[in-house]
Amino acid sequence: MAHAAIWSVGGYAPPHIITNDMLSRQMDTSDEWIRTRTGIRARRSAGPDETTATLSARAGEAALAARGFSPEDLDWVIVCTDTPEMWSPATACFVQDALGARRASAIDFTGGCAGFLQTLQIVSPLAEAGQTVLVIGTEVLTHAMDWHDRTTAVLFGDGAGAFLIGPASPGANGIEVVRGLSRTDGSQATILGKPYGGTRHPITPELVQEGKHHTIRMDGPRVFKHAVTLMSEIGRQLLEESHLTPDDVDWVVPHQANQRIIDAVRQHLGIAPEKVFSHVADYANTGSASVALALADMLDREMVKSRQRLLSVAFGAGFSWASQLFFV
Ligand code: ACO
Repeated sequence: MAHAAIWSVGGYAPPHIITNDMLSRQMDTSDEWIRTRTGIRARRSAGPDETTATLSARAGEAALAARGFSPEDLDWVIVCTDTPEMWSPATACFVQDALGARRASAIDFTGGCAGFLQTLQIVSPLAEAGQTVLVIGTEVLTHAMDWHDRTTAVLFGDGAGAFLIGPASPGANGIEVVRGLSRTDGSQATILGKPYGGTRHPITPELVQEGKHHTIRMDGPRVFKHAVTLMSEIGRQLLEESHLTPDDVDWVVPHQANQRIIDAVRQHLGIAPEKVFSHVADYANTGSASVALALADMLDREMVKSRQRLLSVAFGAGFSWASQLFFV
């Protein structure tokens, strides 16, 4: 059966930079602590007029422009995010309108940091069947931070990444979406997430008084352990099922969680350090955006060459985790 292919990729990160030193002026942390524990030096932050929909549209426009593809020819606009524009309607509806994708149907998915790969796996059959899909991963996580909680506030940033996908066709430039795996362990759902503000814990004046807002809460060390083990396992399993060895992989494009997680996953997978892409130092963890934003950056830097094999792995809230192979 024909695969889906990524016809083009677009990325957008807001220009405003928040450095570690800037954070250390507003909370009890330091550049040294953040760099040594996470590898992060800075993160981007959405400007006053920027929202999840505007970031998504910027990344989507970049992907469409890279292929010279008209938004009117899109069948689907799909946004994956944990920081939506509103509770309802879907962020993708605003993006569909902003892009002028008049014929397209629009819907959102929510899957945490593994959500973009999960979404790609769900929608790839649409592209295999001949439809054109703009899949966008976007987060404005700076709006989901408790800026008094140094254990989370230093880790995340804002950004968006988009894949224009359609059917793979011989001779056409593109990156084939070859094979993927994803898993969830919902028994860990409360370890990492935004517990307040939904129907289980609606925001009340009492909750607000207790300092419980719609912000990210996380047991960091527990997340770390699971992230390393499960991303490594699902990456290894995908390679085995695809009859590939670590040496057959040209690039690992991991979810940009933090450098220590990326390094540990690389070691468990047995892949050489120079084959692993990381820009977490400059962008921090951009959740659903991270894999697509990373690939956009790699393509901008002309790091990806024809006939290369890319392995992507991701882990996040749910817990959910996923792996995906791409052949250039
Ligand atoms: N600045 C200074 N000190 C801090 C900070 C900070 N920003 N945050 C925590 N500390 C302190 C703690 O309070 C603690 O102090 P104590 O010993 O006096 O109690 C000390 O540093 C050590 O805290 P730990 O939590 O044990 O530090 P650890 O080395 O585990 O690093 C970290 C914490 C960076 C959060 C790590 O656990 C981690 O990377 N976890 C994964 C989290 C993650 O990436 N989540 C993103 C979503 S999921 C994903 O994308 C994979």
